[in-house]
Amino acid sequence: MNFHTLAVSANKKANPMKKTFGIIGAGNIAKAVAGHLLKAGYSVILSSRKDPAELKDAIASLGTGVTAGTPSQAAQADTVVLAMPWSQLSTLTSLTDWSNRVVIDATNHYVTFAPEFRMADLKGRTSSEVVADHVPGARIVKAFNTLYFKILEANPQEENGKRVLFISGDHADTKKEVSATIQSLGFSVVDLGTLATGGKLQQAKAPLSGLNLILKS
Ligand SMILES: NC(=O)c1ccc[n+]([C@@H]2O[C@H](COP(=O)([O-])OP(=O)(O)OC[C@H]3O[C@@H](n4cnc5c(N)ncnc54)[C@H](OP(=O)(O)O)[C@@H]3O)[C@@H](O)[C@H]2O)c1
Repeated sequence: MNFHTLAVSANKKANPMKKTFGIIGAGNIAKAVAGHLLKAGYSVILSSRKDPAELKDAIASLGTGVTAGTPSQAAQADTVVLAMPWSQLSTLTSLTDWSNRVVIDATNHYVTFAPEFRMADLKGRTSSEVVADHVPGARIVKAFNTLYFKILEANPQEENGKRVLFISGDHADTKKEVSATIQSLGFSVVDLGTLATGGKLQQAKAPLSGLNLILKS
């Protein structure tokens, strides 16, 4: 299957001057993030281990501006979003040269899901510090991981303000860039600091995990 033949490329709304986003994953979080990006006019590539043709239902449900690709194709986008299971992180390393690439880490470190919800042993590090090992040299910003996907996909503009998304990262310029993008989707952004300090607050089971805050505007 040729990626371009599958592309739902009409992309009438997507602005070619805007950044492209490649999402590694095509499930709940990938679609929630893609939905917001598309509304704001960005181009998005969704990917999974499946042949891109098998993502046609997900693509169709999201509308114009989104295409299906392989993880390697998604990894070439201006910004790459990790929305895949923790257990699959090791597949990332060979996808591209990650040096200086902008990567948004939306993963949580669950190794099993309901009913056990077993967590990976991070050996004292934060989850995004461990993710960094799999995308060497990338400029990682942790974001989109704290809210249940049903809340994340909802309109971030509530009557009394904007839904808050937390970010952490070690590169100030990259955080500024990602923060501006997330704000352009309609969210408020709270910067928690580095991957080491912020991660401890926003990763799975941390104090801010699951917190649905609305910042008054
Ligand atoms: N669900 C939530 O509410 C929520 C909230 C915050 C954070 N998270 C975190 O976000 C991540 C994604 O969660 P989710 O709920 O979206 O999971 P999901 O619905 O199961 O989707 C995971 C996606 O990743 C794809 N995938 C699996 N292995 C892959 C690989 N090696 N390369 C590329 N794609 C791969 C899967 O497709 P194939 O299996 O077909 O490859 C699927 O499309 C997880 O780390 C999760 O902990 C989830």
